[in-house]
Amino acid sequence: MNRSFWAAVAVRNALMNGDLDEAKRQADSLAREDFGGYPDDWQHWVSAMQTHAADIAVAGGLDDAGRSLALLATACGGCHLERNTGPATAELQRQGSQTWKDEDLTDRMKQHFWAENEMWFGLVTPSELGWRRGARGLAQTFLTAPDDHGEPVSEPVHEQLLEIRQLGEDASKAGSTEARAHVYGQLLAKCGTCHHQTAR
Ligand code: HEC
Ligand code: HEC
Repeated sequence: MNRSFWAAVAVRNALMNGDLDEAKRQADSLAREDFGGYPDDWQHWVSAMQTHAADIAVAGGLDDAGRSLALLATACGGCHLERNTGPATAELQRQGSQTWKDEDLTDRMKQHFWAENEMWFGLVTPSELGWRRGARGLAQTFLTAPDDHGEPVSEPVHEQLLEIRQLGEDASKAGSTEARAHVYGQLLAKCGTCHHQTAR
């Protein structure tokens, strides 16, 4: 597949880190790329992808950018579905179900990241299994406030973690591609907002 599509993954990573400027730069490069050599019946998806990339490039905040990236991911999935190809789901399937330790914030973050990744592939592949597993993984995170350097995290941080957990429940109930994109966009914005605030 075209290498430049990977800019979308760079956008995703930047948004997760809360780095809107970097996300915009990467999105802009994807929006400007010339895919004119592609077959006509691919152009519909390429243009959907580029429209959402262009929206990210001018996004006013992480929420807007997250929403557009989620829609972009559904354009990836649309083309794969139509061509009956795309990322192999073997990797997703091999991992099976996970058990998590939850001794501190880092453990909680590893679980978040795993779940977010499954949901991303849920949209991009698209994979029903990936989506459901990621959603369940988030919805089943522990309710307690995790420790950070030996102390429980502050109440505002804990509240944000509970909101992430709630999005896992929303994601489990989201059946349509549109509903899933909506949840995923909110999720990514929340990861990025807190990472930006905590500068980590
Ligand atoms: C216009 C159609 C189309 C769009 C849009 C598209 N893909 Fe693909 N993708 C393909 C095809 C066809 C393949 C099969 C392998 C190949 O031809 O290289 C593929 C394969 C893949 C693979 C597995 C093979 C590899 O290169 O590792 C990944 C991962 C992937 N796509 C990710 C994405 C992501 C992420 C996006 C959105 C940013 C996307 N694709 C958008 C058509 C598309
Ligand atoms: C309320 C704040 C908050 C939210 C929400 C949040 N994070 Fe984090 N994240 C942190 C902090 C603080 C750290 C640094 C913690 C540490 O020491 O590992 C971190 C670190 C990480 C790390 C690095 C962990 C490591 O191995 O060092 C990853 C990956 C991560 N977060 C993913 C996510 C994802 C994905 C989401 C959204 C689904 C998310 N985070 C949501 C606060 C948050």
